[in-house]
Amino acid sequence: MDLKELKISLEEDIKSCSNLEDLEKIRVKYLGRKGLIKEYFKKLKDFSSDERKSAGKTLNELQERIKSFIEEKSKEFEEKRKPSIDLFIPGRKSETGSLHPISIVLKEIEEIFTGMGFEVVSGPEMESDYHNFEALNISKEHPTRDEQASFFVEEELILRTHTSPVQIRVMKSRKPPVRIIAPGKVYRVDPFDPSHSPVFHQLEGLYVDEGVSFAELKGTLEIFAKEFFGADTEIKFLPSYFPFTEPSAEVAISCAICKRKGCSTCGYTGWLEVLGCGMVHPRVFENVGYNTEKYTGYAFGFGIERMAMIKYRIPDIRLFYENEIDFLEIFK
Ligand code: PHE
Repeated sequence: MDLKELKISLEEDIKSCSNLEDLEKIRVKYLGRKGLIKEYFKKLKDFSSDERKSAGKTLNELQERIKSFIEEKSKEFEEKRKPSIDLFIPGRKSETGSLHPISIVLKEIEEIFTGMGFEVVSGPEMESDYHNFEALNISKEHPTRDEQASFFVEEELILRTHTSPVQIRVMKSRKPPVRIIAPGKVYRVDPFDPSHSPVFHQLEGLYVDEGVSFAELKGTLEIFAKEFFGADTEIKFLPSYFPFTEPSAEVAISCAICKRKGCSTCGYTGWLEVLGCGMVHPRVFENVGYNTEKYTGYAFGFGIERMAMIKYRIPDIRLFYENEIDFLEIFK
């Protein structure tokens, strides 16, 4: 191949070069260690000095031409190759939140009671001594009023110790029939340990009308227990005392974990006490201006955390408030 042919071959290669791969082929073919230009330079020693001069010049020019062509085209081809949108870049992962287990359980409970005709209402967390105690027939001597037991904001103002004051607010503002549930936060000077928290949630229930009986209270709570804990759940009523109900009872459910065989959760009794209830005390009716001859009613109240702990076998109440992602994700 003489110099002329070399030039022609180069021009042809340049003409047909359309991408980075072609460009690399050209580089190797002409400028590579065994490329045509190098080979030609080696041949120069066999030339006469005049020929060598002009051939050397031509070769240098060709070499420059190839170099600048490669430089220019490589940029152009590189640009072309880049897509304007990179479809292969990994997406940014977005974290989704979820309802807190207390909200989930509350929703389940509300659905059961609204299905039985109860309406969901709420009351203030900061309550007067009157609504929290006095109107509920809780005497001045009652231990729950103790500064050791309640958070006082002012002398007559406290963070409510239970949701029962909502009973008073509802009855004062409405005539029977009244059928409500009132969920919300309550506050007590309690330690923060596996089974206590100074703030927790309760749910209050109240049904007042002509002829409401204790049998209805039993039936309603039994339906609730079976729907919430499972159809094989049994309940039993134990005599108890609350100043605002008469008669009063404590309700226990058959242990959801051992099915009454006895285990550490139920203290080997087979039963778990889960709520307080009773027939509304006539003195409470008097306090809200209801006719005690005409109306009767029942009320109940329970801790939402406790219900959740039993149903989902959560061993420590503090898990609800610590915002551990691993715990919360179980409920996603
Ligand atoms: N308020 C009571 C408590 O906090 C529960 C209760 C509510 C009992 C309604 C009877 C009727 O323990």
